[in-house]
Amino acid sequence: MTTITLAPMGLRLEAAAGTPLRDVLFGAGVEFPCGGRGRCKGCRVRVVDGEMISSADDRAAFSETELRNGWRLACRHAAGGDVTLELAQWEMAVLGDAEDFVFTPHAGLGIAVDLGTTTIAAQLLDLTTGQVLAAKTALNTQARHGADVLSRAAYAMTGGASELTALIRVQIGAMVTELSSDARQIVVAGNSAMHHSFGGLDITPLATHPFLPHHPETLHFAGADLGWPTDAAVEVLPCIGGLVGGDVLAGVMATGLAQRRGLVALVDLGTNGEVVVAQGGKMLCTSTAAGPAFEGARITHGMRAATGAIDAVEANETCRVIGGGTARGICGSGLVDAVAAGLDLGIITPNGWLECDWPLSDDVVLTPRDVRELQLAKGAIAAGLKLLTARFNATPAELDMLYLAGAFGNAINRTSAVRIGLLRIDPECIVPAGNTALKGAKRALFQEMVDFETLAKKIDYVPLSEEPQFQDTFAEEMRF
Ligand code: FES
Repeated sequence: MTTITLAPMGLRLEAAAGTPLRDVLFGAGVEFPCGGRGRCKGCRVRVVDGEMISSADDRAAFSETELRNGWRLACRHAAGGDVTLELAQWEMAVLGDAEDFVFTPHAGLGIAVDLGTTTIAAQLLDLTTGQVLAAKTALNTQARHGADVLSRAAYAMTGGASELTALIRVQIGAMVTELSSDARQIVVAGNSAMHHSFGGLDITPLATHPFLPHHPETLHFAGADLGWPTDAAVEVLPCIGGLVGGDVLAGVMATGLAQRRGLVALVDLGTNGEVVVAQGGKMLCTSTAAGPAFEGARITHGMRAATGAIDAVEANETCRVIGGGTARGICGSGLVDAVAAGLDLGIITPNGWLECDWPLSDDVVLTPRDVRELQLAKGAIAAGLKLLTARFNATPAELDMLYLAGAFGNAINRTSAVRIGLLRIDPECIVPAGNTALKGAKRALFQEMVDFETLAKKIDYVPLSEEPQFQDTFAEEMRF
């Protein structure tokens, strides 16, 4: 038997050697638009691990570069050795950024990179006009060694650290080369783990109490030091503290949080939820272990926000599926919507009780355990926000504005987020802020790095584990 793993969801399929891949993948919901005749490329897959020798049909369908990058027509292959395949049909949308901003012109080209645990987005900018000339997005190739920061850290601590560093440097180097080898400056914004992994730093302190970065400062490289065919200066934004990294710092810069009037917050919803609250020049931040429910993990039919995912549920139980077609699973925003609808319908009670599995479509159900996972995730974020606002003698409801960072923050239905008590604030005061990490990295191309370093020092990190009320607040905030 051979194992075929489907990225990015990590779905594992077993098949006898020689079984047509079409038969194996069809059972997992993959479509073969031209009936497997090798004409449409709709079944294309990228081999991210293992080997699949290119066939004559592959060579007719793909360019030399595509073939080298591992692209194959699934319909023209059979199961051979163990492989990990990325399905084009299940491509995830990676959030870019097209917002204008004020800048002081510079000469030459620059590249801004949002280095996420799951996805990478890079943009090439003309530093004279501020215009985005080209963009590239990709799934982080480190994902083959675990979907989240903790599994990546575990892999690093068992001897895989240099491999992770090499993987990410090679991948970003290839993106930079495709964008332009003439860029004079490259800024990378990532969370603390990505900062450490890219920089070749020991990641262990981030995976063990008290979760403090080993070397939080800005990292400086010359492109050549990283093995890239460019002499550009490469800078990785500094971490703020704990698991709050340069991506959040970029977000604080991009949203102008420090200069906003009133009590304001920036929240990045993810496996590690990050919260920053600011008022009158004082800024506090924390990170909270929300678990992977928002990313569709540990949910019975959970998946990332890719083709086939239910991403919205109406109170009348109508589901919207990404890309149309049949639902294969449910992503974070769909989960939040489903629970909000369940509360409205009385199927789910405020303390999270769901009597039995609730079918959302023919193949997708919401189980009582899924509801529990969401309670843990939303409880952690809501508790973090409540404890930080309490330090300003306020409650989350008194926030004048709350910016939601990242793809999930962009996709989530604000009314549903309030309905389940994830955010206890007027939905009108919630602003989806887009890819704030990329926005901040772009600003860093036009600003001195010292501005970011000064800002990082002004934000105080509050470890929630040391807050005496954390456990009680977390328990309270698990209620819907
Ligand atoms: S299904 Fe059309 S090329 Fe494979």
